[in-house]
Amino acid sequence: MSTQSKTIPPKIIMVTGGACFIGSHVVRLLVNKYPGYHIVNLDALTYAGNMANLKDVGKAPNYTFEKGDITDEARIRELFEQYHFDAVIHLAAESHVDRSIMDPLAFVKTNVLGTAILLHAAHAAWKKDPAGKLFYHVSTDEVYGSLGKEGFFTEETPYDPRSPYSASKASSDHFVMAWYHTYGMPVILSNCSNNYGSNHFPEKLIPLMINNILHHKPLPVYGKGENVRDWLFVEDHARAIDTIFHHGKTGEKYNIGGFNEWKNIDIVNLLCGIMDKKLGRTPGESAQLITYVKDRPGHDLRYAIDATKLNKELGWKPSLQFEEGLEKTVDWYLANQDWVKAVTSGDYQNYYAEQYVKR
Ligand code: NAD
Ligand code: DAU
Repeated sequence: MSTQSKTIPPKIIMVTGGACFIGSHVVRLLVNKYPGYHIVNLDALTYAGNMANLKDVGKAPNYTFEKGDITDEARIRELFEQYHFDAVIHLAAESHVDRSIMDPLAFVKTNVLGTAILLHAAHAAWKKDPAGKLFYHVSTDEVYGSLGKEGFFTEETPYDPRSPYSASKASSDHFVMAWYHTYGMPVILSNCSNNYGSNHFPEKLIPLMINNILHHKPLPVYGKGENVRDWLFVEDHARAIDTIFHHGKTGEKYNIGGFNEWKNIDIVNLLCGIMDKKLGRTPGESAQLITYVKDRPGHDLRYAIDATKLNKELGWKPSLQFEEGLEKTVDWYLANQDWVKAVTSGDYQNYYAEQYVKR
């Protein structure tokens, strides 16, 4: 009997949007955990993509960066011909709800057309031999719409998107399942709740509040601050994607969430308390910056994920308590002010004025 160990075939994986907040954590995990895989990060480097997010893995021998746009069909086909990908993990997207209200068509183009172009190219490349191939689509809980005070989103909850962002993500999910049913494309989908952690672009609630608290700027809470989100530490999301990618069932979807619901106003107060301590301010000082502003149009009241399927079938669960994760996050922002300064200069100032000053 041979004592040779079984050879694991090399996996060549295209990660789209790998320079972003969540994408960079996914790329780091895969590059470090699987030295035998080749991770090709395809990213257009929009305002949200940032090479600095991956400077620690940039020179790894199993990592390659390709600048490119998922809506550029010729470029995507060329990349499939060049690398012979075994799998795609698709994160590239326009992801901010407020920007989708300002410029909805940009979301249709990237999130809907871009996803369809990737699916089309993957199908062309894989149709003769789909064995061992996988198209993993990273989606959001926002496709399910808005919950009242009770209940949870399960994998069976009907889609009911209510913003241009969530409608574009819902549409992309439908295209992924259409390729599964029509062409037999091996696909998996996951729908995750709100992420937080390092490298989060400061247009989103938590990093925006951390930055404004630090600089004594008003803390813009939409409406009454009563909306509820279910928060998950970004590295736990990356671990969930790794688990589902390797052990999930083709043609299925998995909800990912933190079992961690918070009202926006409570998070802002928690951050104020943490930062008062860290910055040596008088308790209550930062909370005086809280400013209630005009509500987001069509603002979803509550998201809450039931992640039982992922826990029961694949054994994943979140690793961090929220307070601990928030402390880590605040520490990262305080220690990485160069990163924050670089992403909040230029275009960010125009966006900020449009969203918060001129309204
Ligand atoms: P992000 O907005 O921080 O970054 C998006 C990335 O996509 C950037 O690197 C950008 O350069 C790239 N990109 C945008 N358009 C592109 C194009 N046309 N071609 C190639 N690259 C392009 O995103 P994020 O918040 O990290 O979210 C990543 C994914 O996870 C998205 O698909 C999002 O819908 C999903 N998601 C996000 C959250 C969250 O809380 N942020 C929760 C659940 C799901
Ligand atoms: O649920 C997953 C989704 O979470 C992801 O799919 C999206 O890509 C991601 O952006 C996030 O969407 P939200 O709209 O929930 O996240 P955001 O950080 O923009 O807002 C969180 C809550 O905070 C929401 O109720 C709106 C509110 N808010 C947000 C901002 C930026 C404020 O009150 N003030 C603000 O300035």
